[in-house]
Amino acid sequence: MKITAIILAAGQGTRMNSDLPKVLHPVCGVPMIAHSLAAAKAASSETPLVIIGFGAEAVREFLGKKARCVIQDPQLGTGHAVRQAESTLRGKTDLVLVTYADMPLLGSGTLRRLVDTQKINPGPLTILTVNASDPRGFGRVIRNAQGSVQAVVEEAAATDKQLSIHELNVGAYCFSAKWLWEALNKIKVSKKGEYYLTDTVALAVQAGQEVQALVSADLQETIGINTRIHLAEAEVVMRQRINQAHMLAGVTIVDPASTYIEPGVKIGRDTVIWPNTYLRGTTVIGEGCVIGPNTIAQDTTVGDFCEILAAVMDGAVVEDNVGIGPFARLRKGAHLCKGVHMGNFGEIKDSTLGPGTKMGHFSYIGNATIGEDVNIGAGTVTCNYDGVRKNPTVIGEGVFIGSDTMLVAPVKLGAHSRTGAGAVVTKDVEPDTLVVGVPARPIKKLNEAKNVKTKR
Ligand code: UD1
Ligand code: CA
Repeated sequence: MKITAIILAAGQGTRMNSDLPKVLHPVCGVPMIAHSLAAAKAASSETPLVIIGFGAEAVREFLGKKARCVIQDPQLGTGHAVRQAESTLRGKTDLVLVTYADMPLLGSGTLRRLVDTQKINPGPLTILTVNASDPRGFGRVIRNAQGSVQAVVEEAAATDKQLSIHELNVGAYCFSAKWLWEALNKIKVSKKGEYYLTDTVALAVQAGQEVQALVSADLQETIGINTRIHLAEAEVVMRQRINQAHMLAGVTIVDPASTYIEPGVKIGRDTVIWPNTYLRGTTVIGEGCVIGPNTIAQDTTVGDFCEILAAVMDGAVVEDNVGIGPFARLRKGAHLCKGVHMGNFGEIKDSTLGPGTKMGHFSYIGNATIGEDVNIGAGTVTCNYDGVRKNPTVIGEGVFIGSDTMLVAPVKLGAHSRTGAGAVVTKDVEPDTLVVGVPARPIKKLNEAKNVKTKR
């Protein structure tokens, strides 16, 4: 059976007061439409259709190949919006699942149940409803004395008696496709000049057909976003749900209210996350780590048993048993191999630090390849930029860089060489050689047997 989802995203979202289309406002770091799309996709079998209108180009660009886009212009209501999909879908699908792009918490499980209910419904549609004391402007669900659904009445058109009804129309529907296209043509324009999708309910009932209602037990899931106040409410709920899933999977989150984890993040067992930590994008954290307090990781991979305190990391790779911080910054292309120690006030960009290398204090390392067991003294700087190009620095294994060394790139330091404190290295250094001064010059060959090898 072919099930196709249509996600309505053409409305302006006037009450957001924003230049950004409402459906692109992020919830837990991801535009809200991506949440609705993921849920709809999981409950259907074909590539979803998204109805776009306001800010169409921006929405289309964000969606890319994830959905088929159909323009609704002008925007004459939710019924009119669904009608725009008819020419694409007529004869191509058995069921149509319709959801709204401004309900990011509505999960795939609920949508699957909605589809399953319609599969066994002899009538042409099933709607999702919820019972709530606060109606939040939602349409009211009208039932007859036998309890069968008769209609959905929009708040603006409801009588006082109807306004007191607590069963609300959530805004998710599953239709028999064949029936839907005919029904959409019969919807009459409302007083507000709109064609309401919700009028299909009364149309079915008038034709003597049965409308099923699936009643959601999860009120939070039905939070719809019309203002930035709703946006913040949805953010809190989604954050809580993400954090709870990690906790149940074996992650300790010391203070969930101040821990911000985006949906694409993975975290291993027995890792502890301290407050004010942000894990974003495609970040992966291994097992047994201690992360934070005060750490930001964007698209960063961290191995097992790492301790990362007060660090900002973006596009970095950190292998097992690495210690970082406090006050460390890893930029794109930073790669810290096993057992690296990176202490306070360091910055690393586009550089690999070999296994066991130590960089304790105040250093900038850019465009460098650094071998195993290197000691990088306090205040070391790779002078990688000559005003035109970024130049490479290559440091062999077991090198000892004295405090406050300037490495003027391009430059190479051979294995087990040393620099004196304050050296300005402008020329390549031979292995096993000590260089000192400004500019640095070799003063002696080191006895290989006496090489200072820093222990991991
Ligand atoms: C709608 C429902 C209401 C329900 C509520 C739940 C209708 C008529 N009413 O009201 O019963 O309780 O959602 O949140 O459906 N859209 C378009 N094109 C349009 C108009 C809207 O694509 O011409 C999209 C919007 O971008 C939005 C969705 O449809 O994603 C819902 O529209 P909105 O104006 O927010 O409807 P509500 O007034 O909230
Ligand atoms: Ca809405």
